[in-house]
Amino acid sequence: MLQTETTTPAVRTPTAAAEEPFIFCENLVKIYKVADLEAVALQGLDLQIQRGELMAIIGNSGSGKSTLLNILGGLDRPSAGRVTVGGRDLLKMSEAQLVRYKREVVGFVWQQTARNMLPYLTAIENVELPLVISGRFGRAERLWARELLEVVGLADRTRHKLSELSGGEQQRVAIAIGLANRPPLLLADEPTGSVDTRTAATIFDMFRQIRDQYGTTIIIVTHDPKVMSKVDRVVAIRDGKTSTETIRRVAIDMADFAHGNIVLGETHDEFVVLDGAGRLQIPREYLEKLSIRKKVRLELEGDQIIIRSVSSEEEQEAASDEEKDTRHRRWGFR
Ligand SMILES: Nc1ncnc2c1ncn2[C@@H]1O[C@H](COP(=O)(O)OP(=O)(O)OP(=O)(O)O)[C@@H](O)[C@H]1O
Ligand SMILES: [Mg+2]
Repeated sequence: MLQTETTTPAVRTPTAAAEEPFIFCENLVKIYKVADLEAVALQGLDLQIQRGELMAIIGNSGSGKSTLLNILGGLDRPSAGRVTVGGRDLLKMSEAQLVRYKREVVGFVWQQTARNMLPYLTAIENVELPLVISGRFGRAERLWARELLEVVGLADRTRHKLSELSGGEQQRVAIAIGLANRPPLLLADEPTGSVDTRTAATIFDMFRQIRDQYGTTIIIVTHDPKVMSKVDRVVAIRDGKTSTETIRRVAIDMADFAHGNIVLGETHDEFVVLDGAGRLQIPREYLEKLSIRKKVRLELEGDQIIIRSVSSEEEQEAASDEEKDTRHRRWGFR
């Protein structure tokens, strides 16, 4: 059963203290204008992410996932709303501040590995490149680049040119490149989109290891349904708004506990997210099952709120009452 959550998500990692969220999005709106058409990619999205959280964003194609990631990465500016990362207000940043933000605060991993790296350089040269560009390259940086390739399991491939690596290996180099400048935030847009399931699982495990080792806050956009068992929280976006979130909990199996064994199992709690104005998105399958279209009845019963479907006659009646009402208002009498 779905549950609702209005408060800040619970602290889920040992590194996340009870502090201001690292990332705070409120009523975020992004409208793209192409010729005379407007596409509303984000329509009032609320999201909070704690420092050191490892989370995934899922949602249908066109729901606004990449738009959100691009805004968090400083590649795109929102049309309205509020977004802060580590206390920085992304809407108020100057172009020069944004350039620094992109270099020092965020690392990117894209699905198309070509966007991250240069094919004629070796794996290690690719990881070193952002450090060279940042103008601080010495022995410590050389060791750091090596360490990163070890973290992603490519210690024995450092001198291979990218063209000599498999797709999965290239994607792991891309993760190392994303981490080169030691960003506190790593954004990955479908990092496992073009690798097989086993490699995808290894890559998700790597993200967890990176979070545990360096405290990096990691946001992964993915279509991979298996992601749930690999991250702390999955947030689903629908039509440019957060709709549900699922939190993974490790629980002790009480039946086994009674027999003297401690067996750790996983449970997943799914919540529906309420926005600042108290609106929630009812899952589409629920609406379809009860043939709910435009109106419902809301009843408070004890500590529960019940949403009841209304018959189509009732709905029509309500619509015609509404029409009369607006006509009356238009003519100034009631
Ligand atoms: N640069 C752009 N110009 C105009 N419209 C855009 C632009 N980028 C995205 N959109 C539109 O905004 C909406 C959200 O797009 P977005 O790329 O964020 O979706 P997504 O959730 O990442 O989808 P996918 O899973 O297919 O990658 C879509 O309707 C898209 O057509
Ligand atoms: Mg996308």
